Amino acid sequence: MKTCLINGSMRKGSTYHITHMILSKLDQHCDNEITEFFLPKDMPDFCAGCYQCIYNGENRCPHASSVEKIHQAMLEADLIIITSPVYVFDVSGQLKALLDHFGYQWMSHRPHEAMFKKIGLSVVTAAGAGMKSTSSTICTNLTWWGLKRVYSFDQAVMASSYAEIPSKIMEDIEKKTSKMARKLSKSLKNKAQLNPTMKTRFLFNLMKMMKKGHPEWNALDHEFWKKSGYFLSKKPWRDTLESTVERG
Ligand SMILES: Cc1cc2nc3c(=O)[nH]c(=O)nc-3n(C[C@H](O)[C@H](O)[C@H](O)COP(=O)(O)O)c2cc1C
Repeated sequence: MKTCLINGSMRKGSTYHITHMILSKLDQHCDNEITEFFLPKDMPDFCAGCYQCIYNGENRCPHASSVEKIHQAMLEADLIIITSPVYVFDVSGQLKALLDHFGYQWMSHRPHEAMFKKIGLSVVTAAGAGMKSTSSTICTNLTWWGLKRVYSFDQAVMASSYAEIPSKIMEDIEKKTSKMARKLSKSLKNKAQLNPTMKTRFLFNLMKMMKKGHPEWNALDHEFWKKSGYFLSKKPWRDTLESTVERG
């Protein structure tokens, strides 16, 4: 299996080490090929807000070359992991800059069919507070991209570096990372049989109604939904167009 790991920091600190602890435990359950990115090195630009990706296609983004490399690795992966230390109760600025570049693949625009077959994991560490809002930023993006299951691993480390994490908390991290590795391995093994969550189905069907009813909002999005068969009965989480009968 393949993993795409996006580190929301250049620092090989608590977030990095805890993420790799989960990955090494996951290795005990399955073979894993990891493609790893570090931000901002691998995507150093802020979204220009030019709307090129939204109205004219993602290849028109002025930063398409770096964004596309990460996108390709995500498309090839079974598991997408996005990590961030908590910076003032949210993700790092460099991670937010990357997430903004993927706004075009939210279900409200042009979700990629491959995303609906993947598992996602958010890994967040904080000194003590702000994990909930931070992992919510990551999980909200993974959910709107359509991922089949999204897990989150939040950890208060009471430290500013990995070496300083108190031993009692390290014991807890050991247990929690083992549990998360087991959970991920189970999900990855059963991936093909897993149904999308109610939330994903609801969001997809709501977006379908909106895209169908308002072609004037965004012609590129409308054409994408039409060509993909989504205005008929095709669902991105299913492999075939089971029926071309349009339902209400
Ligand atoms: C700019 C900045 C802002 C931070 N904001 C918070 C915060 O809001 N809440 C918190 O508990 N810790 C905060 N921290 C501490 C880090 O989230 C924490 O030490 C984290 O584990 C660092 O991860 P790393 O070792 O992977 O870099 C902040 C650290 C920095 C550098």
